[in-house]
Amino acid sequence: MIRGKASATIRQPAATVYSFIVDDFLTNYPRWSPEVQSLRPLSEGGLRVGFVAEQTRVDQGRRSTSTFRVTACDRDCRLHIAGISQPFQLSFELEADGSSTKISFAFELLKVDFFMRPFEKLIRVAVEDGARGVVTNLARLLEAQVQLPAPPQPLLAPVQTPPLPRQTMDFLASKDDGLIPFVLSQILDTCVNGVTLSDPDQPDSPIIYANSAFERISGYPRSEIIGRNCRFLQGSDRDQPELDEIRAALKDHQGIEVTLRNYRKSGQMFLNRLSIRPLLDRNGLLIYYLGVQYDVTTQVGASAEIDRLRLQLGDGRR
Ligand SMILES: Cc1cc2nc3c(=O)[nH]c(=O)nc-3n(C[C@H](O)[C@H](O)[C@H](O)COP(=O)(O)O)c2cc1C
Repeated sequence: MIRGKASATIRQPAATVYSFIVDDFLTNYPRWSPEVQSLRPLSEGGLRVGFVAEQTRVDQGRRSTSTFRVTACDRDCRLHIAGISQPFQLSFELEADGSSTKISFAFELLKVDFFMRPFEKLIRVAVEDGARGVVTNLARLLEAQVQLPAPPQPLLAPVQTPPLPRQTMDFLASKDDGLIPFVLSQILDTCVNGVTLSDPDQPDSPIIYANSAFERISGYPRSEIIGRNCRFLQGSDRDQPELDEIRAALKDHQGIEVTLRNYRKSGQMFLNRLSIRPLLDRNGLLIYYLGVQYDVTTQVGASAEIDRLRLQLGDGRR
């Protein structure tokens, strides 16, 4: 289960906050959650326990349509919603605090699809960000209402609330399903360097992503790379002092750069200039290691040859 929680104090009475969230839900939900592209009630009347609606959202480039049901709704107090077609729950709890209201929002994803499991930590970060975004947007929208002057004449056009800035990762979101992974993998496939991601939270830190250059350099297809620890490239050549440096760096969650003897699928040795960097979430917690591999066999061979020729030249002059 993945859970995101956030709370804030809004300078509006609980009755106003409740009415904004519940009474005007169909208008305001897409305003505090800009990921919502469309919202369609499947029940008659306003929000109450049992009310059902359908939403289409775009989260990190992934479009999904789901139905949900209101499971609790107590005036000026709380609103609970549960997914019908997808396993999620969300809750708004309100607590009056003088003329302000403390709002607590929680979102729980009860199950992660099997094929999305390698990316569970990214989903966790997105859910936590999403929860923060909901309360921040609600506070901004509701407090903007306090500052708006009362319309002087009823015939004036209604005051438009300016559109909210988009969430950090929500770019080009409305274009296509799975757009961001698709675009990112195309970008990484144009790199001349090998690029790999390994997941330190899974047993033996397997590779969960490898780009085309890594396939080309190593000679292994992705199907034989994903799920294995990168050490398979060392074959039986394990007596390399640089490996101790890697172990020490990984133990301290530090980055490192070393050159290793590695072996292609054909058995041919190559010199791998390997750079490893920890990737952290916003709370500074390690989520993945990024590995960048560069085949420096030719360069190292050329510089060894230059050294040999220099030596010869030096010998000749003596
Ligand atoms: C992201 C990442 C990429 C790595 N890439 C390589 C690689 O291309 N070749 C290699 O020999 N080792 C690579 N390693 C190092 C091995 O996975 C392993 O950490 C190293 O062999 C030392 O640990 P061990 O004693 O468990 O083998 C990589 C490690 C990480 C975290």
